[in-house]
Amino acid sequence: MVFEYAPAPESTKIVDLKSNYKLFIGGKFINSNGAKTYKTINPATEEVLAEIIEASQKDVDLAVKSARKAFKTWSKLTGSQRGKYLFRLARIIQERSRELAVLESMNNGKPIRESRDIDIPLVAAHFFHYAGWADKLDYAGLGKNPAPLGVAGQIIPWNFPLLMLAWKIAPALAAGNTVVLKPAETTPLTALLFAEICQQAELPDGVVNIVTGAGETGKYLVEHPDVDKIAFTGSTEVGRIIAQTVAGTNKKVTLELGGKAANIIFDDAAMDQAVEGVVNGIFFNQGHVCCAGSRLLLQESIADNFLDLLYQRMKTLRLGDPLDKNTDVGAINSAVQLQKIKELAESGTKEGAQMWSAPCEIPNKGFWFAPTVFTNVSLSHRIAREEIFGPVLSVLTFRTPDEAIEKANNTPFGLSAGIWTEKGSRILEVAHRLRAGVIWANTFNKFDPTSPFGGYKESGYGREGGRHGLEPYLKAGK
Ligand code: NAI
Ligand code: MG
Repeated sequence: MVFEYAPAPESTKIVDLKSNYKLFIGGKFINSNGAKTYKTINPATEEVLAEIIEASQKDVDLAVKSARKAFKTWSKLTGSQRGKYLFRLARIIQERSRELAVLESMNNGKPIRESRDIDIPLVAAHFFHYAGWADKLDYAGLGKNPAPLGVAGQIIPWNFPLLMLAWKIAPALAAGNTVVLKPAETTPLTALLFAEICQQAELPDGVVNIVTGAGETGKYLVEHPDVDKIAFTGSTEVGRIIAQTVAGTNKKVTLELGGKAANIIFDDAAMDQAVEGVVNGIFFNQGHVCCAGSRLLLQESIADNFLDLLYQRMKTLRLGDPLDKNTDVGAINSAVQLQKIKELAESGTKEGAQMWSAPCEIPNKGFWFAPTVFTNVSLSHRIAREEIFGPVLSVLTFRTPDEAIEKANNTPFGLSAGIWTEKGSRILEVAHRLRAGVIWANTFNKFDPTSPFGGYKESGYGREGGRHGLEPYLKAGK
């Protein structure tokens, strides 16, 4: 039975939105050196939220200089002194969590239920985790007294704006590096609020610098000769460009790229639980998730039954106002991303797959795509091979575990996978043979700051999170 819900919108009063934002360089908000500006919008309403600077090469240069200057003192602090700042940042994030969650939902389009209960708590948890590491670097597995690299250039995407910032900034600072971070062009606002939090925490000037802008600004950062390390999360396409640019330089690089994860359901799996896991795997965050379970692999004997249950469950998903506490599926982050999802969905139909969408009412304004399932999919279809990065699930079937593993691994990516079965031995055997960095068993899309995350093949290299997440920011000690 589907319940009727009265609207329960979260108030936006807690957010102090400015009409325009400056760059955060050397601990201060400063105007650009002759750069252009653009407007950032709310993707659920298309309303303009604020005017943002597209940082120029000179701005990036200034930010790198300020990070270099700050590195001299920040890297000399004891680990426990750096830890104190990180604990302070973590606590302020908790204190201001509601404000951060509302702003994240306004700028990204994700449901407040997710930004409030998942994104922002994980952001604080990441800072707490790495605050604890700052005085224990001797135990990071890199010998005694491992050394920081210097200035880290960090480029992040729009799907988890503040969480990706936390994944990048927390380990870098704990290890004694300073950073210049560029948020994605469509979602700069929580990064700029984080800059205010750095001021509130009295973080030394220049330890964190935030430069806003699009691909050009990111390019200046990647090409800058005085940057020691690049950390990137985003498309495989840009990951390739970055890998080419830094090849032959002394820059270290970590790349977290796309995915096309298989979520494998065996005939002995707990069905209702698995249906929830599939819904969470692909419709969480509108499917804008690099590790989304975008390929559902169903054992043939249960496929029809499972799909019936899945369609029933999907009919209860509520799509709409991201700030409504009852919303399950929010807005697609941008017109460009919506276009990409539509184009790939059309290719699915053209190539002969069968499309079914949940009967959601689509709002008049903003960017939306109803949760969608494709059946009759074959491995050669584009919707089975390319990352859609939207709420679209491609269903394939298999008869034996060997066939499931072969199909799951038949992808250029290797970021994540899910296994649903009652048998512990099957979980171990299948997990062992899947080429993916993160494998969930009887759950999906679970994140924890203590656990390393990263991919194989075209999903990139390097790990973020946990002890492994320190390695890309340290030189081995003695
Ligand atoms: P993108 O890779 O272009 O953007 C990610 C970040 O890189 C943004 O901050 C962007 O400004 C920056 N960037 C763009 N070009 C750059 C360059 N030449 N040098 C340095 N930085 C650059 O991703 P986009 O265009 O937003 O999305 C395209 C597709 O990429 C999506 O449809 C999705 O399939 C995938 N994607 C994957 C993500 C992941 O988490 N693995 C995140 C975002 C997108
Ligand atoms: Mg792009």
